[in-house]
Amino acid sequence: MTVAEWIPIATARLEQAGIASPRLEAQLLASHVLLVDRTYILTHPEVELNELAAETLIQRRESQEPLAYILGFREFYGRRFRVDPSVLIPRQETELLIEEALKLPETLRVLDIGTGSGCIAITLKLERPDWDVWAVDISGAALQVARENAETLGAEITFRHSDLFSGLEGEKFDLILSNPPYIGVEEPLPEEVRNHEPATALFADNHGLDIYQQLAATHRDYLTEEGTIILEIGQTQGAAVAQLFNGQILKDLSGNDRVVVACLI
Ligand SMILES: C[S@@+](CC[C@H](N)C(=O)[O-])C[C@H]1O[C@@H](n2cnc3c(N)ncnc32)[C@H](O)[C@@H]1O
Repeated sequence: MTVAEWIPIATARLEQAGIASPRLEAQLLASHVLLVDRTYILTHPEVELNELAAETLIQRRESQEPLAYILGFREFYGRRFRVDPSVLIPRQETELLIEEALKLPETLRVLDIGTGSGCIAITLKLERPDWDVWAVDISGAALQVARENAETLGAEITFRHSDLFSGLEGEKFDLILSNPPYIGVEEPLPEEVRNHEPATALFADNHGLDIYQQLAATHRDYLTEEGTIILEIGQTQGAAVAQLFNGQILKDLSGNDRVVVACLI
């Protein structure tokens, strides 16, 4: 079967499965099978597709497996990060943390807590090569993915296996960032998130506030005197997290509360 014949069939099946952008995803699946980019698919409709390989991928997507896990990567701040089911798929909203961090003039030592794929730490190191960037995660499997991404993208990061600050005794940072798990277990979630992304990356106790509460109780010991903390938050958590850190709430492009920034001074 040619690409031109397969795309409409795949599009209809993905649409039936409730996928929001079925044609685009069909093109991306075809390009993954052929190991080419999407432009090639659009300009070479006559190319023959390995139907068995394509069928396997489309069945995985029909069963709500996230596209990023099937393709094995997700773009973040213009770079490609490898992902697998041990890490959260980087979200566009998280780029707001990067934009805020890059406004800081002279930050030298930076810590990313709950690094997952490494997208925050690696992006900051590549954007500010003179920064000393550290990253921790409680998941060894996630750290492995982050290390691979750092190596592929050429970012020198100090990685530590750590439960929040537990492995960082005596260290101080000018900037601490975190996109922690912040979803309450009771909250409704799309099947493709709840059934496929790692629970340690998604859920926190106390209606999703537990990690913020733990960070609020301990972060001062790990921040330098005029240090800054930048946290991603769920859209209903602005007031609670801003109060915990005496911080300021920033909104994302959709107008939702998304980040809390606080300084020690
Ligand atoms: C929401 S994901 C964020 C991943 C990545 N920073 C991003 O923005 O895409 C949260 C990450 O925090 C990690 N994590 C959860 N609890 C932790 C803890 N107590 N200490 C360190 N990392 C933790 C999870 O393993 C997961 O990788």
